Amino acid sequence: MTGKLEGKVAFITGAARGQGRAHAIKLAQEGADIIAIDLAGPIPLVPYDSSSMEDLQETVRLVEALDRRILFEQVDVRDLDAMRGFVDSSVAELGHLDIVVANAGICIPATWNETTPEMFQTTMDINVTGVWNTVMVGAPHLVTAGGGSIILTSSYAGKKMQPFMVHYTASKHAVTGMTRAFAAELGKHSIRVNSVHPGAVNTPMGSGDMIEAITRTNASNPALAVMGTPFLPVYSAEAEDIANAVAFLASDDARLITSEHLSIDAGSQYF
Ligand SMILES: NC(=O)c1ccc[n+]([C@@H]2O[C@H](COP(=O)([O-])OP(=O)(O)OC[C@H]3O[C@@H](n4cnc5c(N)ncnc54)[C@H](O)[C@@H]3O)[C@@H](O)[C@H]2O)c1
Repeated sequence: MTGKLEGKVAFITGAARGQGRAHAIKLAQEGADIIAIDLAGPIPLVPYDSSSMEDLQETVRLVEALDRRILFEQVDVRDLDAMRGFVDSSVAELGHLDIVVANAGICIPATWNETTPEMFQTTMDINVTGVWNTVMVGAPHLVTAGGGSIILTSSYAGKKMQPFMVHYTASKHAVTGMTRAFAAELGKHSIRVNSVHPGAVNTPMGSGDMIEAITRTNASNPALAVMGTPFLPVYSAEAEDIANAVAFLASDDARLITSEHLSIDAGSQYF
């Protein structure tokens, strides 16, 4: 059986683990070759465990086990030149680029009055500038290919708001706005641009001291802590739930869908 993305090439950021790894595997299962990057190293300020080169190499192993090609490098999405160099050389090797998934992001729970300028700036640098950088290095190749699909990872916090995360909420709303603005200008090149908005997802972002940090910030204002409760009897999505949505948006099944903001949150944006 042929997949939905046979012959396509996809560039994915934050591919070492979590949702980025699930996207790499799902798109490869659908027939795509993969260009993968990740910081794969310590991220100061976040309360959860950072990813490693071993994690990125495990993604590579899992994609290769599907008989797809994967090119990878340790690159920070804040480094536009490094990302462009790697993507340009990878596209030259694989022939073309059709799909861009700007997934890399960080999350630092903090009440409004304990949020430091460094927390705010780092969140903006990775979650906003990093996403912009990703589109800026990927989109020219999609123009050359005559079209394609760009998927930006926002959040439930990019539609509503997530309490005790002014910086994260601001960054994910910026991603929603970027989706609309890029979709408008890139449409004439047959490039579709959509965002995905997960609620809670079961990934290593919830590891280390993350739950403790969320519990502590929730205690500062319990009335807000219930926001984002899902309607369905499922507290967390699995990374594969988000990957299924990404694969759909990347495929021709979504050929007339652009500037859309797809929630995979069990209804939590409405609570
Ligand atoms: N986990 C959730 O509950 C949840 C909910 C909504 C949205 N999101 C978003 O989903 C995306 C993926 O998150 P995840 O849950 O897989 O988290 P994760 O921490 O498990 O994975 C994120 C990956 O991105 C990489 N990364 C971070 N900063 C980077 C940088 N500067 N350059 C390159 N790579 C970098 C990390 O090293 C890591 O491997 C993020 O944008 C996140 O904000 C997550």
